[in-house]
Amino acid sequence: MDASSDEGVVTEEVVVPQRVERRAAEPWDAQSVDSTDGSAQNRLLIKGGRVVNDDMMQDADVYIEDGIIKQVGTNLHTPGGTRVVEAKGHLVMPGGIDTHTHMQLPFMGTFAVDDFYTGTRAALAGGTTMIMDFAIPQKGESLVEAYHRWRSWADPKVCCDYALHVGVTWWCDKVGKEMEELTEEHGINSFKMFMAYKDTWQLDDHDLLESFKQCKEIGALAQVHAENGDIIKENTAKLLDMGITGPEGHELSRPEEVEAEATNRACVLANQVGCPLYVVHVMSKSAADVVSNKRRQGHIVFGEPIAASLGTDGTHYYHKCWRHAAAHVMGPPLRPDCETPKYLMDLLANGDLQTTGTDNCTFSASQKALGKDDFTKIPNGVNGVEDRMSVIWEKGVVSGKIDPCKFVAVTSTNAAKIFNIYPKKGRIAVGSDADIVVWNPHATRTISAKTHYQAVDFNIFEGMEVHGIADYVICHGRVVVEEGNVRAVSGMGKFVPTPSHSPYVYGRVQERDIANAPKKVDRAPYDGPVIQLNNQGLTQAVESSIIPTNQEFYTRGPTRCGGLNLHDSSFHVSGQLVALTNTQNSHCI
Ligand code: URP
Ligand code: ZN
Ligand code: ZN
Repeated sequence: MDASSDEGVVTEEVVVPQRVERRAAEPWDAQSVDSTDGSAQNRLLIKGGRVVNDDMMQDADVYIEDGIIKQVGTNLHTPGGTRVVEAKGHLVMPGGIDTHTHMQLPFMGTFAVDDFYTGTRAALAGGTTMIMDFAIPQKGESLVEAYHRWRSWADPKVCCDYALHVGVTWWCDKVGKEMEELTEEHGINSFKMFMAYKDTWQLDDHDLLESFKQCKEIGALAQVHAENGDIIKENTAKLLDMGITGPEGHELSRPEEVEAEATNRACVLANQVGCPLYVVHVMSKSAADVVSNKRRQGHIVFGEPIAASLGTDGTHYYHKCWRHAAAHVMGPPLRPDCETPKYLMDLLANGDLQTTGTDNCTFSASQKALGKDDFTKIPNGVNGVEDRMSVIWEKGVVSGKIDPCKFVAVTSTNAAKIFNIYPKKGRIAVGSDADIVVWNPHATRTISAKTHYQAVDFNIFEGMEVHGIADYVICHGRVVVEEGNVRAVSGMGKFVPTPSHSPYVYGRVQERDIANAPKKVDRAPYDGPVIQLNNQGLTQAVESSIIPTNQEFYTRGPTRCGGLNLHDSSFHVSGQLVALTNTQNSHCI
């Protein structure tokens, strides 16, 4: 790269590639350190680009010092020795925030193959500068210990910033107290509850309610994996009995309505206790419709489709090649309907869905093969962290469904707002972290497992030609991707605490509670006759004023349990209509 001097500023000529085929990752990439590390690296000018935020675009330069954006505008005064990235013809956008990853997750007897190093390096390659992963305790395990375990895995390895959500896989008062401790002392503001994975992580409705109440109490966001685990268990047994053991059984065991039912139930439960809700990995039209409709009814609910559900579909489960079909197994499954990705993108466009994650949880073929004779044993999960930005650009912006501002909103800003790290993240503005992607909207590349940075040996977007490439990625003010090459350093990323009571989530909760509070009706007390119950709660005697005088009433005789026959459940005496209210009576007919 040429460097020339212009008024004391070091500038670089950038040749914008129109087509980039990435080279395969080299082992030495792992410890490759930016050779310009030092003072020059601390001062950076992104020159001549178009700055895109979620609410505006402007032609402006961006000056960065010590990892923070210091100036945005034109004709900026910058110190000598500042490194310049020439961004003419490029969009300068906030780095992506992937709201949903599972690096090195211990799951279904194995570990996700992309760990916090390969996973975050791949994230950077695609223009994502922050991930949000999940610390998931086993049933009965301390949430705080799980959190520390994830920190110990992630801290030394991450190449980009990260935050954690914490799973709630069981319930007791201690779990509630730990949620509070995590929120107050460890920077956690979101907890994921599972409505699937029966016998391991699944919570029943009672425990969901308890955890939702606690989330509200501590100002955290309740997240749900919305699938009905009981139905899945039932369907799975039937399918295996029928001899359906291949990956298609995964999709058949958990059809769309199984996701929609759980999504609806989660919304109802959360709304009943006034807790804001975030539905992770929205995979189907009907689940997305539930989120949209509930929002229309005033619920505080957010929905997160993922790169997989926006970029591909579940017809792959019916592929003749077992490896290919199994590579797409994830829960909830992709839907075998090519309209679903477009539909979900339309809902992102109109604001009914807000964020995009990936659920990046990768297993190579030999790991997927644990389920070669039984689809229930195929480790669930797919890739996405590297390609999310390009896939959304292609399916969203190139298709004309969203503009670049909305692209920034759904890939970065909305997540920053919901998880309460805005405008530190998710915005190009003075004072924000210098996590920036210099995006070439015209260049194209073809996605392939042969050239991707991820460790997994399969890519669910294989062969997809996408416009939009992260030519430069700046993380903490350091250039970590340059012309498609990643120069990431493990441990360079930081844990980002997410404070509770996000105004974007909780801003209207208090007023809403007051406005919706049940109101007692002031009225004169009832002073008429009251029936008497015997000690089994059954009607024993009624006051003389309402004893029927018409003996024909008893022509059917009393019921076995001694109450009135419900066929005669209402009758008119002295101008009064008396109806049985005791439910036990109604069970006696
Ligand atoms: O298939 C998936 N989604 N694997 C990761 C675990 C989860 O439910 O998010
Ligand atoms: Zn999940
Ligand atoms: Zn997940």
